[in-house]
Amino acid sequence: MQQFTVLELLSEKISNPEVEVKGWVRTFRANRFIALNDGSTLKNIQCVVDFDNLEESLLKRITTGAAVHIIGDLVKSQGKGQTLEIQVKNIDILGDSDPETYPIQPKKHSFEFLRENAHLRTRTSTFSAVMRLRSTLSFAIHRYFNEHGFYYMHAPIITGSDAEGAGEMFKVTSLDVNNIPTNGNGKVDFSQDFFGKETNLTVSGQLEAETYAMSLGKVYTFGPTFRAENSNTSRHLAEFWMIEPEVAFMDLAGNMDLAEDFLKYVIKYILKNNIEDLEFLDKRQQDEDKRKPQAERNDMTLIEKLKFVTDNNFKRVSYTEAIDILRNSKPNKKKKFKYQINEWGCDLQSEHERFLVEKHFKCPVILFDYPANIKAFYMRLNDDKKTVRAMDILFPGIGEIVGGAQREERLDVLKEKMAAINIPEEELWWYLDLRKFGTAVHSGFGLGFERLVMFSTGMNNIRDVIPYPRTPQNAEF
Ligand code: 4AD
Ligand code: MG
Repeated sequence: MQQFTVLELLSEKISNPEVEVKGWVRTFRANRFIALNDGSTLKNIQCVVDFDNLEESLLKRITTGAAVHIIGDLVKSQGKGQTLEIQVKNIDILGDSDPETYPIQPKKHSFEFLRENAHLRTRTSTFSAVMRLRSTLSFAIHRYFNEHGFYYMHAPIITGSDAEGAGEMFKVTSLDVNNIPTNGNGKVDFSQDFFGKETNLTVSGQLEAETYAMSLGKVYTFGPTFRAENSNTSRHLAEFWMIEPEVAFMDLAGNMDLAEDFLKYVIKYILKNNIEDLEFLDKRQQDEDKRKPQAERNDMTLIEKLKFVTDNNFKRVSYTEAIDILRNSKPNKKKKFKYQINEWGCDLQSEHERFLVEKHFKCPVILFDYPANIKAFYMRLNDDKKTVRAMDILFPGIGEIVGGAQREERLDVLKEKMAAINIPEEELWWYLDLRKFGTAVHSGFGLGFERLVMFSTGMNNIRDVIPYPRTPQNAEF
């Protein structure tokens, strides 16, 4: 006798009739049919108990959520709805689950409720499917880079620099917060802190990745990043995972090609390897759409949308062209945008990005050559001295999924830009060194992993695609 997972049991490759399986009861129907799930697959295996020969006290303990150990014969199912089932010969209750207090009942729960029970939500079909996809996507990401000659680099999580220059950082300190040492000016004396200087959780591993690209050639990071921005939206987390490739001797066009090829690869990978979970989420979304007014429904199903991305070229549009389109668009003329587009130079809000992707081009869009003053200091200045070699990739339903750039490789220009926004050279001396010793054109981008998982699963709230979301006023679990 051998122990199998539900996935293995349902694979129709098992020849021995007597099998052993452990899992959690999803439902127990008519004192006879257990739907058993162990997380290995979306599907449950039906386990049929012979209640005439089971003690009443044992039967009562077969409840939703209980952990059980089953021994029985794997046979062709006589009933509808499944091909195989287990005729139970012995059942042990490994862990009881009180049906009066177990939160995950066999009925539809709201996502809000499940967020409050995030420690149990992966016992539902939806969340187990989402998290299996999250796992496969991260594997596909490593696989892509490995197949394309990139090295995986671990950027530090504690850092002294603010890569994005946005100042949205969580401080890291071992000072006694109730008794903070100050210097003569009444400012905090960080020389007494753990690192002898002010430090924070990283907002991006890019600057460190650049140092590795300028020696190892092609590298990527894939790790947690932190932003203390107080935005309570369905697309922002305070802790999220970012993938940041960085490549020496690659310009912005190469960067766009890489990002597009990479995104298509990982989406193809889940279509090939996780179709069962995707079909489930696809159907879930269609059912949900039926309950919505026509205008709010998705115009493509989840799987159609994924295939649309893998089968079509991303539209490449300059910021200047995009502003022209937006300025002349219906919602702008009818004052339907919350933020009107009047002048060249304004930053795009997500309503504008979504208009471009969902209404105007109806496909993923790569916007490039943004105004210098709305982008980070490290982006390469164009000859017009007004725009930088930035690129953002916009996806339907998500908006910005990737942000990247060709980096400023000229020492004098970089120094000028840093001075203009008061970044002290001492802080980034090592970053400037790259421009002193063997500088070269190089580029990279950052993909927000959770935004990719949202797109790939059709989930609408970023809190539902990471195990334990960290957002303003919330760090439970
Ligand atoms: O556009 P961002 O800020 O770019 C960078 O950090 C660059 N250093 C990347 C690079 O060039 N190496 O962030 C990159 C991506 C965004 O496009 C978005 O998908 C995601 O990270 N992102 C967030 N995801 C969830 N919650 C947040 N608060 C996010 N902020 C950015
Ligand atoms: Mg960005």
